[in-house]
Amino acid sequence: MNVHAPALAHTHEFDEQTTAFAEDVIGNLAQHPKRLSPKYFYDVTGSELFEQITVLPEYYPTRTELGILRDRGDAIAAIIAKGAALVEFGAGATTKVRLLLERSDFGAYVPVDISGDFLKAQADALRKDFPGLNVYPVAADFTAPFALPAEIANMPKLGFFPGSTLGNFEPNEASAFLRTAREILGDGAQMIVGVDLEKDERVLYDAYNDSAGVTARFNLNVLVRINRELGGNFDLSAFTHRSIYNRERHRIEMHLISRKAQNVRVLGHNFSFRPGESIHTENSYKYSFERFTALARGAGWKVRESWTDKNRMFSVHALAALD
Ligand code: AVJ
Repeated sequence: MNVHAPALAHTHEFDEQTTAFAEDVIGNLAQHPKRLSPKYFYDVTGSELFEQITVLPEYYPTRTELGILRDRGDAIAAIIAKGAALVEFGAGATTKVRLLLERSDFGAYVPVDISGDFLKAQADALRKDFPGLNVYPVAADFTAPFALPAEIANMPKLGFFPGSTLGNFEPNEASAFLRTAREILGDGAQMIVGVDLEKDERVLYDAYNDSAGVTARFNLNVLVRINRELGGNFDLSAFTHRSIYNRERHRIEMHLISRKAQNVRVLGHNFSFRPGESIHTENSYKYSFERFTALARGAGWKVRESWTDKNRMFSVHALAALD
C-alpha cells in the first residue's frame, strides 16, 4: 500500500480505479528495473490499437486461434457438456466466443471483466444475436476469487480463457489463476484455454516488432495514458519501443527504452532515467505442450484434448477438473 495514495486521491479527486492506477505506476516506476503492468495498455485507444495488432500480417496469434476454433469447432463442441454455463474470463471482442455459442447449446453465458463498459457492450451484442441465450455478466477482477451468479448453480461449468492472455502472467501467477478458476468453476468443470506456442524466434520477434509500428504505438500508449490520467510529463519522442525474445524464460519481453538521461514527473514524484534504461511493460510467455500440461496438472486440471494449426503456431486445450 502506497502511503501517499489517500493524499493523492484527495488532492486530485481520483476515482477508485485511477487511485489504484496511480499507486501502481508510482510504485512500479520506483523499482529497479522499472516496470509497468500490461493491464494498463487497454484504455479506449489501447484497445483500438490492440484490435489493429490482431490483423497485422506479422501478428499470427489471433487469426491462428480463430482458425483452430473454427476448424476444430465440431471436436470442441463434442466434448462440451449440454446445457453448460460458459464462463469467459475477460471481455473484449466477441468473435471467439461466438464460435463456441454457434455450435453448442449453452444454458448461460457469463462474461467476467473488471470493466463494466466492456461487459455491457459484449452482453448487449450477444443478447441481440443469440436471442434465447441467458447472459449474466459479472463485474469482477477475474484474477481473484469471485462468486458465480446463482442462476447457473445447477449447470455444468465451462471456463473459457482464449487469446493466450495466460501468457501475460508469470508462471506462478498462471498456476494460481488456473487453480482459482478450478475452485470457482467447481467439481466436474471443464475449461477451454488458448495458449501461444514456442516457435522460431524470428517469427516471434516479428510478431512484436511489426513493420507498420502499431505495436510500438500500443506500447507507448501507456505513457500517453499516464500523462493524461495522472498528469505525467513523459516526452514520447524520448522513449522507444523494443521487444526481444528471452529464450531461457520462454517469453517475449516488451520494453520502453529511454533515449537519453532524463527526469519524468508523475503526481509530484520524480523518476530519473539513464540513457538506454528500460521500463519493462509486458511479458508474453510461450509454452510447449509439455510445459503447459505440467502447469495445468499442478493447478488441478487434466489436459483432455489439445488442438493446433498445421504449422503448430498456437494451441487450444480442453481441460477437465481433477478430483
Ligand atoms: C493479448 C496478451 C495475448 O501477448 O501477444 C500483443 C498482447 N502485446 N502485442 C500478446 C500484445 C503486444 C497479447 N495478449
